[in-house]
Amino acid sequence: MMNRREWIANSTALAAATTAAAKQTGTASKKPVVISSANGRAACAKAMEVIRSGGDTLDAVIAGVNIVELDPNDTSVGYGGLPNEDGEVELDACVMHGPTRRAGSVAAIHGIKTPSKIAKLVMDTTTHVMIVGEGATKFAEAHGYKRENLLTDKARTAWLVWKESLRAPAGFNNWTSMDQNLRADASSPLPRLKQRFPDVDDATLAWAWQMANHPTYGTINCMGLNEKGEISGVTTTSGLAWKIPGRVGDSPIIGAGLFVDPDVGGGGSTGVGELNIRTAGGHTVVESMRHGMTPKEAVLEELKRVSHLYNDDRKILEKLDIQFYALRKDGEHAAGSLWGGPRAPKNYSVNDGGESRHEPCVFLYEKA
Ligand code: GLY
Repeated sequence: MMNRREWIANSTALAAATTAAAKQTGTASKKPVVISSANGRAACAKAMEVIRSGGDTLDAVIAGVNIVELDPNDTSVGYGGLPNEDGEVELDACVMHGPTRRAGSVAAIHGIKTPSKIAKLVMDTTTHVMIVGEGATKFAEAHGYKRENLLTDKARTAWLVWKESLRAPAGFNNWTSMDQNLRADASSPLPRLKQRFPDVDDATLAWAWQMANHPTYGTINCMGLNEKGEISGVTTTSGLAWKIPGRVGDSPIIGAGLFVDPDVGGGGSTGVGELNIRTAGGHTVVESMRHGMTPKEAVLEELKRVSHLYNDDRKILEKLDIQFYALRKDGEHAAGSLWGGPRAPKNYSVNDGGESRHEPCVFLYEKA
């Protein structure tokens, strides 16, 4: 038999556990909400439109990211993405469908503009979760997709600028004429680039030089919740610009680029994929929420784990960029960035029924 003191202690513990569980699982959302990385305002609006017309949450977020995948001017996702070392656009994507707890993924797929749709086909029509490389392209072709050239002129120019700016220590580069090799002046690239690419405008050349020197990991992650509390997510990317052919980032990795558990919510990521894979970020975000953290606390917890990879050494970490997104099943959401603050503000996109908007990310370290 419990004495009074034990009974009070037990009741207090039970109350705390109940509060934590309520905080963790929330109640079913009354209002649909879609969130994505900053590049997904249009994607969120489209996904919301599909959700409000009664569509499935996964169909909704895929329809959203298809806008970005098909946009030739977005050079980090789908068609028009910056290519690998060989000049080939190589795409990664995954999907998770909360209501049925299923997942699908493709990695290093070539020639298909919308890898998110192929990831869903893997989920819907096979016993597998992940198909990669040539197998993934052939699988898409088997389902009627045409293999297309995904390299736009803009992305090809940036790739050539990157290739031609690579120099051996003595300054020579096989991809530049002997005359150019002898006269190379890396400190003022624009006049040389202008000479080399007379038909390309200055802004594109300046951008191409920036991309050559600071390759991006751009990606879109998008997660959507309907009024029934059903949640699904998608992550899609062309990955690291100029990567070694076959390099796979975090985006198609279930548990890294994306994780959805319908009992808790979803977690996703954009940025340097290798940091995310090493900390299983999407899964960590969801598990942190499962154990009672708010979405904000969950993304910050994951960012701390990324920071620990380099012993919290800010001199190293300031060269890295990564974001995490959290959508809890009761509709609360947040995003967090390794770096932020007034000098380097980071946002994510939200649509909860009206126009899509940007909301600020929380951050672990303030950029000086
Ligand atoms: N997060 C995209 C990538 O690392 O490929």
